[in-house]
Amino acid sequence: MAQLLAGKTAIILGLANKWSIAYAIAQAYVREGAKVLITYQGERQRQTVEELNAEIGAAKVLPCDVTMEEEIGALVEQLKADGTTLDIIVHSIAFANREDLSRPFVETSRDGYLLAQNVSAYSLVAVSRALSPLMTHGGAILTLSYLGGVRVVRNYNVMGVAKAALEACVRYLASDLGAGNIRVNAISAGPIKTASARGIRDFSKVLDVVANLAPLRRNTDPAEVADTAVFLGSDLGRGVTGNVIYVDAGFQIMGLGL
Ligand SMILES: NC(=O)c1ccc[n+]([C@@H]2O[C@H](COP(=O)([O-])OP(=O)(O)OC[C@H]3O[C@@H](n4cnc5c(N)ncnc54)[C@H](O)[C@@H]3O)[C@@H](O)[C@H]2O)c1
Repeated sequence: MAQLLAGKTAIILGLANKWSIAYAIAQAYVREGAKVLITYQGERQRQTVEELNAEIGAAKVLPCDVTMEEEIGALVEQLKADGTTLDIIVHSIAFANREDLSRPFVETSRDGYLLAQNVSAYSLVAVSRALSPLMTHGGAILTLSYLGGVRVVRNYNVMGVAKAALEACVRYLASDLGAGNIRVNAISAGPIKTASARGIRDFSKVLDVVANLAPLRRNTDPAEVADTAVFLGSDLGRGVTGNVIYVDAGFQIMGLGL
């Protein structure tokens, strides 16, 4: 079968380890023939990500903390210096304080709220503004969301509110960037055991509930999320923008779990 991303260059932000959803996406993108660039957050992650890249085979591994405008700017300068143009941007980034993912939402501090919004939602705007000028022939921007942005999921709390903002950002960015043939979409993934997910209290109970109730009677495999990221990044997704696509074994359609 022809490779779906042949001739495309993708930058993937948010790969921390081999459990990261971004890791599965990077693997799928390389499989489909994309030239892949990976960013990591801070010096502490550099070695791990460079070692993982021995398996992935990305063309370049670059630093970018998305809360720091100067790091986003340096990334853009580096890409320009290399003569890189982009077809796909994958934003797979979120963060909230651990205590805000276990105590009642009403207890969320102002700082905790702003931190979650800054890293998990505003960063999509900052990254899109900085990197979209490199999408000289149009392209696709993708981000990762979760059901907690539209329904109350116990303990997801401040991150649910950040995902609601993220999904709204997807719609506004899609409207702004569509004239340049840049599409912006989110994948709302079912729960997957990653480093971020482990910060959510009772996360393993969530996995049990989903496996029992989801129409497909199982949890979500990161490879399924990655294949949808392939579709959205490829020309097959050319008519889709401003959307949130659920890759969650169907869980979001269900009501009572009786
Ligand atoms: N795991 C799940 O159940 C699940 C479900 C739906 C959506 N998501 C979303 O998928 C995305 C990826 O998360 P994951 O589950 O793969 O976990 P992960 O911990 O592997 O990935 C989160 C990434 O965010 C990065 N990050 C955090 N702060 C950053 C900053 N300031 N600058 C740059 N990068 C920063 C981390 O370095 C890490 O690579 C997140 O948006 C998450 O909310 C996860």
